Amino acid sequence: MKHVIRKAVFPVAGFGTRFLPVTKSIPKEMLPIVDKPMIQYAVEEAVAAGIRELIFVTSANKNSIGDYFDSNVELEHLLKRQQKYDLLKMVQNILPENVSCVFVRQHAMLGLGHAILCARDVVGDEPFAILLVDDVIDNNKNPCLKQLVDVYEKEQGSVVAVQHLAEEELSKYGVVDLAGVLDHYARMVGVVEKPKAGNAPSHFGVVGRYVLTPKIFELLADMRPGAGGEIQLTDAIAQLLEDEAVFALEFEGKRYDCGSKLGYLEATIQYGLKHPEISKDFLKMLKALKL
Ligand code: UTP
Repeated sequence: MKHVIRKAVFPVAGFGTRFLPVTKSIPKEMLPIVDKPMIQYAVEEAVAAGIRELIFVTSANKNSIGDYFDSNVELEHLLKRQQKYDLLKMVQNILPENVSCVFVRQHAMLGLGHAILCARDVVGDEPFAILLVDDVIDNNKNPCLKQLVDVYEKEQGSVVAVQHLAEEELSKYGVVDLAGVLDHYARMVGVVEKPKAGNAPSHFGVVGRYVLTPKIFELLADMRPGAGGEIQLTDAIAQLLEDEAVFALEFEGKRYDCGSKLGYLEATIQYGLKHPEISKDFLKMLKALKL
């Protein structure tokens, strides 16, 4: 039976330690890139790929994420009274009407794989997407998740997004082993989380977009802690591909690693340079820096 991908899981329970001290009280996912929180970029990408149910896996200190996607009646009244209709429209249209949100709590930080497992009952027995919010991927014409969904629909198998990485980067990623040469996408025969230098099976690292079949939940439920003592999604995918076809897709688009300070600043500059309100003045300002 053919399935439509309509649910996406956003694991947002992590501490965001690379952004301390700000993440002591503000979720990393709520840090702005120009004027929108990081999480909105991922949500817009998901909606553009046809997702209609957003499942956020959260933890303590993450209430502002729920508030952001809820309506703020007082603010709306104020904007109406002040006749600031553009702003009113903006705050009312954070999510399209046909998109709903579900919040699930991860009570202990046992790893990304465990966070995904927390969404099991809400996802149920259907294929679903996962988006890691701190991978901001810019492709307006063909959003990254849409590219994965297209491959899923064609192959009826799980798909993970991969990026060609420099040798010294590989030990920070899950690295895929492929059945043949990667031409847009290829079937995976293995995946290794954070391989030691010289041991990576390819130059393609997994980045934060996945479309997975519900079989992954069964595997995650039986998973023992792996690298870093955490329940690793990568380990479950390594088992999934023993039973089912799993594909690695080299997506088109520019990815910013917004979980790191440098990647976050790069994204801020690039999105600032594209922002209709400030692009010209921002470019002028950057040029004046004469670095
Ligand atoms: P990261 O390893 O990037 O962790 O998790 P982090 O907490 O976001 O950031 P740093 O490394 O401490 O700075 C990858 C993704 O998995 C989620 C995180 O929220 C992030 O989106 N995650 C990780 C969970 O939801 N729960 C976990 O137990 C671990």
